[in-house]
Amino acid sequence: MTVPVLAAVTGASWEAALVAGLERTPTGITVVRRCVDLADLLAAASTGTARAALLSAELRRLDRDALARLAAARVVVVGLFSPGDEEAETRLRQLGVVHVLSADSPPTDISAAVSAALGEQEAGIDALAPAGWSQPLEALPGVDAPVDSGPAVEPGSGRLVAVWGPTGAPGRTTVAVNVAAELAASGVPTLLADADVYGGVVAQLLGFLDEAPGLAAATRLANNGQLDLAALAAVAPQAAPNLRVLTGISRADRWPELRPSALEQVWLLCRSLAAVTVVDLGFCLEQDEELSFDTAAPRRNGATLATLDAADIVLAVGAADPVGMQRLVRGLTQLRETVPGALPRVVLNRVRRGAVGAEPEGQLAEALERYAGVRDPAYVPEDRESVDAALLQARALHEVDPGSKARVALAGIAAGLVGRPAPGRRRGLLRRGA
Ligand SMILES: Nc1ncnc2c1ncn2[C@@H]1O[C@H](COP(=O)(O)OP(=O)(O)OP(=O)(O)O)[C@@H](O)[C@H]1O
Ligand SMILES: [Mg+2]
Repeated sequence: MTVPVLAAVTGASWEAALVAGLERTPTGITVVRRCVDLADLLAAASTGTARAALLSAELRRLDRDALARLAAARVVVVGLFSPGDEEAETRLRQLGVVHVLSADSPPTDISAAVSAALGEQEAGIDALAPAGWSQPLEALPGVDAPVDSGPAVEPGSGRLVAVWGPTGAPGRTTVAVNVAAELAASGVPTLLADADVYGGVVAQLLGFLDEAPGLAAATRLANNGQLDLAALAAVAPQAAPNLRVLTGISRADRWPELRPSALEQVWLLCRSLAAVTVVDLGFCLEQDEELSFDTAAPRRNGATLATLDAADIVLAVGAADPVGMQRLVRGLTQLRETVPGALPRVVLNRVRRGAVGAEPEGQLAEALERYAGVRDPAYVPEDRESVDAALLQARALHEVDPGSKARVALAGIAAGLVGRPAPGRRRGLLRRGA
């Protein structure tokens, strides 16, 4: 039995030769349909009649999203480029196509690539390869400055820290911005990314005046197979020494721009651009596919889920009051169910006696262990004055009020993320004056 294959190579000068070659040679694959464009290909793939697709790099609108849809339809992909067209080859690889051949390859090589792709599918290997690994840091063209200052980042070795928390504005953004700023100030090349699908405010908090291209631009490039390290660096401007920022979507209705499949690619490259990438996330974890019959429809919380899934560390921020704690406990349960691999470290924010009792840290720790089975949370005290001052000046806490209680606590959390001892750690931050 031969493998039924779709061909989406219309318009390529080598189309006729390719199809004739495949027909002439017994290769084990049969072209069952020649698709005229991407829409035709996706429609044919969704019928389940073919197991593989041959696509040309010139196929219009081919992007990671389309490849993800082919993968979801269990159709493996072999990319073909015009002989000698290295740019087309690179583009296919950057899109994440693993099996890429010159269109004048012998038909048996093409069928061997189809078999290999099918074998990988069988073995459960991700059809959409993360692209960009092979590019060494120093050999990147088009970067006018070194890709990063400070200690070099071993390509791919950077950590991804997702800052998440339940509804009720527990302080995710405050924690994300300040933890990133602390890391940068301590000499760690850091990238702060705003991936809140309900509208990001990181740019505003850091005083970015112009609308920077930011994360939406990075995901667009990734989706089109055009994101490499240099392009990522170009859309992630330096906000302070060692601190790059990928600003978020300014309006909540732009959430479809943060496509999960493209974000995965962005996070992967971030690991080569910065030693630590801190991502500010939206609160919601609901998987809305049950609400939609179209499984390929974009999902609002897809970006949050994809980031939590990719993260090495999840900082789960909860508000240190009875309502905030209840939301956090529920949120942690949901997090465990939706992203079982995530390892949350809990940060209790706005800790104050008034909301909990005379010994807030002890009481909060006890409640957290009893109801969520989580030990050793980090505490950030309520510190209205310094947090407000930072807001007003659009700066990080360490710049505005370095001795403030909240700043000291956030610096400790940042140090913990890179395995350093907390600077000047004091016990019982609340004993005095809280
Ligand atoms: N430790 C703190 N002390 C005092 N105020 C704080 C503290 N942390 C955060 N805040 C304030 O709480 C409010 C919410 O914080 P933030 O915007 O960081 O929360 P969020 O979880 O990101 O909310 P959103 O759901 O809007 O994204 C802000 O006004 C912020 O200044
Ligand atoms: Mg926020």
